Amino acid sequence: MKIFLDSADINEIKTHQSSGFVDGVTTNPSLIAKSGRNIIETIAEICTLIDGPVSAEVTATDFETMLTEGKKLAAIAPNVAVKVPLTEVGLQTCRALADTGTKVNVTLCFTAGQALLAAKAGASFISPFVGRLDDIGKNGMGLIENICAIYANFDFDTKVLVASVRSTQHVIDAALLGADVVTLPPKILSSLYKHPLTDSGLEAFIADWKQTGQTIL
Ligand code: E4P
Repeated sequence: MKIFLDSADINEIKTHQSSGFVDGVTTNPSLIAKSGRNIIETIAEICTLIDGPVSAEVTATDFETMLTEGKKLAAIAPNVAVKVPLTEVGLQTCRALADTGTKVNVTLCFTAGQALLAAKAGASFISPFVGRLDDIGKNGMGLIENICAIYANFDFDTKVLVASVRSTQHVIDAALLGADVVTLPPKILSSLYKHPLTDSGLEAFIADWKQTGQTIL
């Protein structure tokens, strides 16, 4: 399972990139707004740091403008994946961009039916938002299970990119279901390393080691 970082903050991306675990980056208009920076410059800079897919999202809602925005974002770097919303216009734009060889990440997916349409529109990635479904009392991971099953039935190439991740348990569940990618807020990636028994166990090992008076080097 690939791990993407869900961030438009260059410093956060640099910090986590050095871990070797970051296979790609996702951004959205809210994350760009939070960065306080220009979208084109920010995506270009992220693409110099990350070899894998970097998602950059369109903001228009009509087909012509959305397609023009998508082409402009795709031209920033070869590893840009253009993010479009899961609307009728978004899927038309997805088809048009995919037909010219651009990778498209279809975002804001909340049903398996939407995911089926995205795959048929040639999406490279589908982004189901598990956390936002959980927030309204629905089963986010149940959606991932259904999408994985449907895509396997028809051998679709579209990758399931689990988005809106809120916990390390979401990451484990996504891996158990065989999802292709999870995109993680930096704090969730940091949490994946941690367990209190690791910390207390290490503390005890170091204390016992000191008693021996030995050194390895
Ligand atoms: C990723 O592509 C999504 O934009 C992101 O995971 C949304 O997460 P949120 O629901 O925490 O905003």
